[in-house]
Amino acid sequence: MPLPPLGPDVVEEFTRTIYGRTPDGGKLSELVLQSREDGVLDGAADRLRHRATVACPLGDLSFDTLLHLPSGGDAAPVAVILNFDGNDQTLTGFPYEKIVQAGYAVLTAHYQQLEPDDPNPPAPGVRGLFPAESWGAVAAWAWGLSRLLDIAATLDGLDGLDVGRAVVIGHSRLGKAALWAGVRDERFALTVSNDSGCCGASLFRHPGGEDIEAITRRFPHWFVPSFAQYAGKEDELPVDQHQLLASIAPRRVYVCSAEDDAWADPEGERLAVEAARPAFGPDGIGYHLRPGGHALLEEDWMKALAF
Ligand code: GCU
Repeated sequence: MPLPPLGPDVVEEFTRTIYGRTPDGGKLSELVLQSREDGVLDGAADRLRHRATVACPLGDLSFDTLLHLPSGGDAAPVAVILNFDGNDQTLTGFPYEKIVQAGYAVLTAHYQQLEPDDPNPPAPGVRGLFPAESWGAVAAWAWGLSRLLDIAATLDGLDGLDVGRAVVIGHSRLGKAALWAGVRDERFALTVSNDSGCCGASLFRHPGGEDIEAITRRFPHWFVPSFAQYAGKEDELPVDQHQLLASIAPRRVYVCSAEDDAWADPEGERLAVEAARPAFGPDGIGYHLRPGGHALLEEDWMKALAF
């Protein structure tokens, strides 16, 4: 299938057809330091836990954040990431020692504290705190990634963070959110997608892996309801994902794929990167395909941050 051409105003099309409209408003109102450990991780990193409260039009949203930053030395660029299983799980799940050795700070929060991953959530998340906007959960998580950057900005200087070189990174459904955050928030200097697949970095028009029918049937809450009308009609969608990647230019993008992750269509991700390349400078977009399956591994982190 031929791809729609790269062009300027695609973000509005992505908003309308897939992710929905992120409302204005929602400001960090309070950041309370809950604990601080200095020199954890062999003396190389400090670990801080905060509780953040964001004031939204219909109420407040509070969530917990976990920050690792290199001890001493120069201000560290910060990578923001939402995690799947809670902040404590990242203590074993993320390669913090290596990331910190590479000179980066990492700020994370649990994605479901921002917005439940449920078509019929038991309690409303951030989407319930704005009057009648149509936006999907992916966009709500992307909103959360921007709030993490707000939090990092309040710590800028104070705790040795450099938010001028901020990275947004995410795996799988949260890689879709990282891409949408990178598109919408120009403060992110580098956007990293890991195995984000359908509605992330892979092309709709490249057959293979998950398609619109499958994703909207299982995860209707991730997108605007009208996106489901494109099930089986990929060729009628006004956009494709190389345009999403290109709309981040001239800021940088890095896409990680895994050979055995057929559901995320690694070849469709590679082709999206190649089709987006003309929008970037020579080193503006990077890609790797590593052996193995669907996971955010140390190798993915290190290659993306080295980029
Ligand atoms: C499912 C879903 C994918 C998603 C993945 C994940 O496999 O179909 O679109 O990326 O979950 O988030 O792990």
